[in-house]
Amino acid sequence: MNGSSLQPTFQIGSIPVYGDLILAPMDGICDQPTRALFREMGSAVTYTEFINVMDVPARLNNLDRRITYIPMERPLGFQLYGSQPEQFLTAAKLLLADQPDFFDINLGCSVRRVAGRGAGAGLLAEPQLIAEIFRLLKAEIELPITAKIRIGLDEDTLNYLEVAALLEENGAAALAVHGRTRSQNWTSPSNWCTIREIKARAGIPIIGNGDVTSVVEIDKMFSETGCDAVMIGRAALGNPWLFSRQEKSDLPREEILAVVSRHWQDMAAFYGTEKASFTFRKHLKAYLDCPQFEGLNYKPILNSLQPLEALREALK
Ligand SMILES: Cc1cc2nc3c(=O)[nH]c(=O)nc-3n(C[C@H](O)[C@H](O)[C@H](O)COP(=O)(O)O)c2cc1C
Repeated sequence: MNGSSLQPTFQIGSIPVYGDLILAPMDGICDQPTRALFREMGSAVTYTEFINVMDVPARLNNLDRRITYIPMERPLGFQLYGSQPEQFLTAAKLLLADQPDFFDINLGCSVRRVAGRGAGAGLLAEPQLIAEIFRLLKAEIELPITAKIRIGLDEDTLNYLEVAALLEENGAAALAVHGRTRSQNWTSPSNWCTIREIKARAGIPIIGNGDVTSVVEIDKMFSETGCDAVMIGRAALGNPWLFSRQEKSDLPREEILAVVSRHWQDMAAFYGTEKASFTFRKHLKAYLDCPQFEGLNYKPILNSLQPLEALREALK
């Protein structure tokens, strides 16, 4: 399980992946500067924030910002959500010009505006439609197509084994599994047994996801599920060190500050200072949420247009 070994840890189709920890796609969080920083600090694969296939033809809703990347982020997948096979195909064909390494199909988003119209986890209600989407994409697009799923709609429709088998039969190159149902949303723990069951039957790489927050839990996810890689979402916020298996609580304050500073500078360069000061808030709050900054009054820092200067001032 060593990210620096010369042998790939696994492959997404023909793409070698070095390393076994992956930053989860997160809408509103995984912008280009954030993804690049995490990739540099050990995340082995890059996923964009999800992209509505219907936005692609007219390049609506910040599409250009969402798919902006730098070469070191590779291997990089554009994540798509939608409900109609033809719309997936149209979007994927158009996006080929932007040269992703693979496309990932979102079958896990439980947000009502997505799942409620039959996209994201809503598609789990129609496994045959999922199969059709993959058949069509595989026939027309030469890049690997992967999927990220939840384990069913609710406790009565736990169809993860059926969906995983259909995905593999229809050409999926890898599968990330978030062990919750659509209706569980964020309640109940992620069910890692389902990941183990999928992995035991699968011939493609399986990426385990859900509730991993520490190095100990990374190891636990590997040993309990046998998965090929672990994907980390919420706990990654403010903690890129997880991707090199370092516990943030062991780090000196200066080391944390150096990464905060770098992240801020990259965000400021990408968005401009004013917008960055707003967008960076959630990251900064998470960076500072650790014993090394205990007692710090961080509200004025978060509200500052120059958060880094404000932080340095507060620490004097
Ligand atoms: C703010 C936020 C945005 C998310 N956006 C996406 C997304 O765009 N695509 C996706 O597949 N999953 C998305 N997710 C789900 C995560 O990728 C991941 O599956 C989930 O957070 C469970 O992993 P965790 O327990 O490590 O956070 C999002 C989660 C959060 C918290």
